[in-house]
Amino acid sequence: MTPSSSAKRVAVLISGRGSNLGALIAAQDASYKIILVISNVEGAGGLDKARAAGIATAVIPHAGKTREAFDAEMDGVLRGARAELVVLAGFMRILSDGFVRGWEGRLINIHPSLLPAYKGTKVHERVIEAKEALSGASVHFVVPELDAGPVIAQTSVTVHPSDTPQTLAGRVLEAEHKLYPEALKLLASGKVCLENGLAVFS
Ligand code: GRF
Repeated sequence: MTPSSSAKRVAVLISGRGSNLGALIAAQDASYKIILVISNVEGAGGLDKARAAGIATAVIPHAGKTREAFDAEMDGVLRGARAELVVLAGFMRILSDGFVRGWEGRLINIHPSLLPAYKGTKVHERVIEAKEALSGASVHFVVPELDAGPVIAQTSVTVHPSDTPQTLAGRVLEAEHKLYPEALKLLASGKVCLENGLAVFS
């Protein structure tokens, strides 16, 4: 379906290949329209995916800027583009508290674990090391504390005894590509919101 005029205006922040961005582009419907992709990395592969889909892009390098200055620049670009929702998709920067508060309830992230388990980096290595039977992915509202925001949606995948971090990452990533658009649609259509620090569903 073509995104309608009531579709929420979404900006996606990336730093890399943008496979989740690709899934979000493909899944656009009446609830959301991606109007801007921002990368802090000039050669990020996801930028090509955005351009191929006719979506505006912006590169905002972070080198030589304080976190606050970089975030303020990004905030200006997002507001200039009249973004309503901000989606982190492999964006490899920690955001300042001020930026996060400014977009509270309208800023989401995807993390490749069953949060609150395995926050942070090297998730798949740690999951395998701990001999977990299940892993997965979580979409959550972003709060100042890393990977700690209320969860909007999760999906689980089986961890095989023969898994390497790479094979597990691939299986989780496939699940992410289904989960992220579903979660964004819940937010864009008002079926979930952040209230008093909790994800509230209606
Ligand atoms: C994904 O694994 C996501 O969970 C994490 O960063 C990775 C981004 O991959 N936050 P891609 O750039 O979307 O392919």
